[in-house]
Amino acid sequence: MFDFALPADVSDEDRYRELVNAADALTEGETDAVANMANLASLIWSFVPKLNWAGFYRMVSDELVLGPFVGRPACIRIPLGQGVCGAAAADGETQLVEDVHAFPGHIACDPASRSELVVPVLRYGEVIAVIDLDSPDKARFSQADARGIEALAARIADRI
Ligand code: SME
Repeated sequence: MFDFALPADVSDEDRYRELVNAADALTEGETDAVANMANLASLIWSFVPKLNWAGFYRMVSDELVLGPFVGRPACIRIPLGQGVCGAAAADGETQLVEDVHAFPGHIACDPASRSELVVPVLRYGEVIAVIDLDSPDKARFSQADARGIEALAARIADRI
């Protein structure tokens, strides 16, 4: 049984350090990528407040394909360069979008989503997946959230 409860007044720095440590502990020694992504999506959902979607898209034959997630059913395939996820995968750069309605080409999977953070997962310099977080709140995500999810991506890149 895993219990990773955080105090209500936790700082972003502590929140993401605890998330990365929990992710490390939960995936250590497990070689099944789907199992690891499923647990990681659940961990993100538990540790990061005010989300309506959290999960993975994997790079498969030069397009993004839906992976394990928490939230409403989502679009399955995203071409490189399309939407927020496709932009992150094409550029290999984190996308922090304060208002998804203002992002050209945003793909609306859940109409409740207002802001979005997408972090590429790189292995040996190649994008192998993206981690996607959606929030129903406008401008939900800060640079601290981006740095925190980037730290998570770096830690789990060889486990998914
Ligand atoms: N909004 C994303 C699509 C994925 S869903 O948010 C789960 C995008 O524009 O790429």
